[in-house]
Amino acid sequence: MPEPAFLQTAIDIVTRAGEIQLARQESGFRVSKKGTTDLVTEVDLECERMCRDILAERFPDHEVLAEEGGASEKRGSRWRWVFDPLDGTTNYAHGLPIFSASLGLEIDGRTEVGAVYDPSRRELFTAERGKGARLNGVPLKTTDTSVLIDGLLVTGFPYGALRASGDLLEIFGAFILQSRAVRRLGSAALDLCYVAAGRFDAFWEQHLKHWDVCAGILIVEEASGRVTGTDGAPFTPAAGHLIASNGPLHEEMLRVIRECRAGGTRPRTGAT
Ligand code: IPD
Ligand code: CA
Ligand code: CA
Repeated sequence: MPEPAFLQTAIDIVTRAGEIQLARQESGFRVSKKGTTDLVTEVDLECERMCRDILAERFPDHEVLAEEGGASEKRGSRWRWVFDPLDGTTNYAHGLPIFSASLGLEIDGRTEVGAVYDPSRRELFTAERGKGARLNGVPLKTTDTSVLIDGLLVTGFPYGALRASGDLLEIFGAFILQSRAVRRLGSAALDLCYVAAGRFDAFWEQHLKHWDVCAGILIVEEASGRVTGTDGAPFTPAAGHLIASNGPLHEEMLRVIRECRAGGTRPRTGAT
């Protein structure tokens, strides 16, 4: 059972990251490239430093896995914090206010606590395993939408992998044809939280990293949603592909992806 101090620590860190993100938007920041289209800003690094400092002070025997610095030294610890200091870096660098900080805590390999903070809207999404998910303290529940054509979906694309992976655009096209609409926000952590909050009916993406989704998956599951890999198997960070749905739409989401991979898509049902 996680201690109450764990959730409070997750909240302290993601909200502090949000304060840094908003303050640095005003004061300015340097941007550099990690790859052709993959950016990193001074703010990513500053938020990650803050997180590592707080965790080292409060829980010196816990491991940390964070995007910019990778894994900390304390291998073999029962506790591991998984942090994305700025999810939505491209949006942030362009002044688009859709970004977040995301922190999950794994105990013995299972995520027990998650917090995602969107400072632009002052929205704090939290979950503890077995205790439900919340937005600013209010319990969350996924939608009841049961037909894909009535569903509002969201997805994302990895940096540079459009070239590397054959079926990304085909699956995207199939969901556009078979759902009400598909959005692309640019923060996987928020995509997951929005499924939990009932703003989207489902999210899918491939080539995700553990820090993108560690907290958000728990938040979806604790809001009565369902998460699997795009093949229907349990999600694993190593595979990095997922469908996160309200539950009722999950089998249809899997069916669309299965059909794309088998080489055929269905026309949009009932389209006018
Ligand atoms: C990215 C965002 C984006 C997703 C990419 C991620 P970053 O994270 O979550 O929505 O489509 O796959 O890499 O780089 O902004 O932390
Ligand atoms: Ca990310
Ligand atoms: Ca990031």
